[in-house]
Amino acid sequence: MSAHLPAGPALAYGAATAAYQVEGSTTADGRGASIWDTFSARPGTIVDGSDGSVACASYERLDEDLDLVAGLGVGHYRFSLAWPRIQPTGAGQVEARGLAYYDRLVDGLLARGVAPMATLYHWDLPQPLEDAGGWPVRGTAERFADYASIVHDHLGDRVKVWATLNEPWCSAYLGYAAGKHAPGRRDPAAAHRAAHHLMLGHGLAASRLHEAGSDAVGVVLNLAPVWPERPEAEGAAHGVDAILNRVWLGPLVDGSYDSALLALAPELGDPEVVRDGDLEVVHGSADWLGVNYYTPMRVDVGDDTETGGVGQDTSAYPGVDGLRFRPRPPVTAMGWEVEPRGLEELLVDVAARTGLPLVVTENGAAYADDVRAEDGSVADDDRVTYLRGHIEAVERARTAGADVRAYIAWTLLDNFEWAEGYTKTFGLVEVDKTDQTRTPKASYHWFAQLAHADFLRIKV
Ligand code: FCB
Repeated sequence: MSAHLPAGPALAYGAATAAYQVEGSTTADGRGASIWDTFSARPGTIVDGSDGSVACASYERLDEDLDLVAGLGVGHYRFSLAWPRIQPTGAGQVEARGLAYYDRLVDGLLARGVAPMATLYHWDLPQPLEDAGGWPVRGTAERFADYASIVHDHLGDRVKVWATLNEPWCSAYLGYAAGKHAPGRRDPAAAHRAAHHLMLGHGLAASRLHEAGSDAVGVVLNLAPVWPERPEAEGAAHGVDAILNRVWLGPLVDGSYDSALLALAPELGDPEVVRDGDLEVVHGSADWLGVNYYTPMRVDVGDDTETGGVGQDTSAYPGVDGLRFRPRPPVTAMGWEVEPRGLEELLVDVAARTGLPLVVTENGAAYADDVRAEDGSVADDDRVTYLRGHIEAVERARTAGADVRAYIAWTLLDNFEWAEGYTKTFGLVEVDKTDQTRTPKASYHWFAQLAHADFLRIKV
């Protein structure tokens, strides 16, 4: 039983960011190159031709950003650590200046009364590890466990809630099958091998952290309910569910990959890939589960031109024939259907399936942000409506018995949205790309009121 997860009577709140999306300073203080530096330098990979070299300059504006977190009145801040800042080549040598940045971040949070929730890997693999084969090779999982130990040895006295990976589905299937994310490979077999090694990496890292005394080690998954549009699409929906949800939950909860998944991904049945003992390492390795939710997946089959939102690429589901995604209106700027009922259903199902305490580690929306208040700030009523609707869905799931401890909004700042560059804004705070001025949006003030009211309720 974890003593360190939020456990008050009310839902706890937080805000999230990820290193590559906000930090910038990608060559400062000995940081090595990551796969996102390499990928975004390749023409045609990022819609606006941008990269994370400046991003929100949070590396240089740390105190300002921590003040923005504190101003929200939330109890938790979810951030990620950049592996190439800490081990520039992904193995061996440790860069003290990289660790020192995260010391300042963690100490700054604690000084402001905010609990750090650290994600060890949010997609920025050190480039030398990709050159050695990346996640499709086993060595990467082993290097990840070493890196996790280094970080935990350094920060474990102050950071109590840990997530190993963020959204391994994106790393494996957008990165190695669809080629839409770094490292941009299109090799389904490699993607399936990556999936196993990511979860193995999680399991090995979790063992190390547990041995070192941590009791709140989780993994963050982008799970979604998968809804067939019609009976003919049920097979395809089962396939999408396999690659999006069951490939992670199977080893974690049951210690196995199911047969329908193995039919799509024979690599997961290859004893050279899944070695004796691997599944035992992963089985039961999480003390809590992070759920990132944005939209349900409405699945159809057909031979029309593909529809669907950003990241809903059919090539990210290798072997699912004739797959189409059919988001229904209203959709966000990402083309993602707005449907809070999906979150409620997901949380109830995942709580029952896993028996684990859950945290909604990401939820939020990109909108055009083109409506301005008199003072020039963004009047993002659409985002407020989105957040409110989803927080209410979390409360309904809790009433239905799901043990959901916290709701973490994505994201504090408008930032580098991966393949979408700076064209999609999810922030509670607007960031001016010319001078880095931060201006809270209406959603920031709304979320602050909610978090503050909750804070008072816990105190009395
Ligand atoms: C998730 C990522 C996060 C952000 C949101 C919009 O897939 O974890 O970094 O890009 O989507």
